[in-house]
Amino acid sequence: MKALVAYDTKFGNTQRVAELIAEGLKEAGVEASVQHMKSVELDTLQDYGAIFMGSPNHIRRPTGTFNKFVKNLQKCNLKDKTLVAFDTYSIGKPEENVEVKPGGSQFQVALLKMEHRIQKKLPHLKLITPGLSIAVIGQKGPILDVELAKCKEFGKNIALQL
Ligand SMILES: Cc1cc2nc3c(=O)[nH]c(=O)nc-3n(C[C@H](O)[C@H](O)[C@H](O)COP(=O)(O)O)c2cc1C
Repeated sequence: MKALVAYDTKFGNTQRVAELIAEGLKEAGVEASVQHMKSVELDTLQDYGAIFMGSPNHIRRPTGTFNKFVKNLQKCNLKDKTLVAFDTYSIGKPEENVEVKPGGSQFQVALLKMEHRIQKKLPHLKLITPGLSIAVIGQKGPILDVELAKCKEFGKNIALQL
């Protein structure tokens, strides 16, 4: 089984999440390739049994690049693929000495829209839910420390379901 972990990113955090998911997949014996959504060659998609799709939360939504990627998948007549979504969101810029925790009002907000879109546009493909929603500090990140381990663990857990 081969998996593609495709991501969009502005500041690199969603790419980092993609790389950590891929590490988890690999540790569980799944061959994983990490690529920006814009550089994925559509005719290579047939090679993958699972396709992960990641987007940053931009104004409570996934990015246009994510939407376009889903549209491209529709054109590919894919069969027997498993799909998985993940997002990154901001927990804002906390004041010094204030403990920062993942969660809050933006948790899973873009992710749920991504999953809804995938189910609507690609209903014949299997979507594993819930996907992964990872908190970053401010807009540029970094990813919260407590979140890093979750990414790899997520990859490992999904690998068991493939
Ligand atoms: C134009 C723009 C709009 C954003 N809107 C939101 C938002 O509505 N909610 C939120 O939690 N984060 C928002 N963010 C923060 C992003 O989620 C954060 O920059 C992103 O997760 C970082 O991922 P990246 O490094 O892969 O770009 C926004 C960022 C940008 C650039």
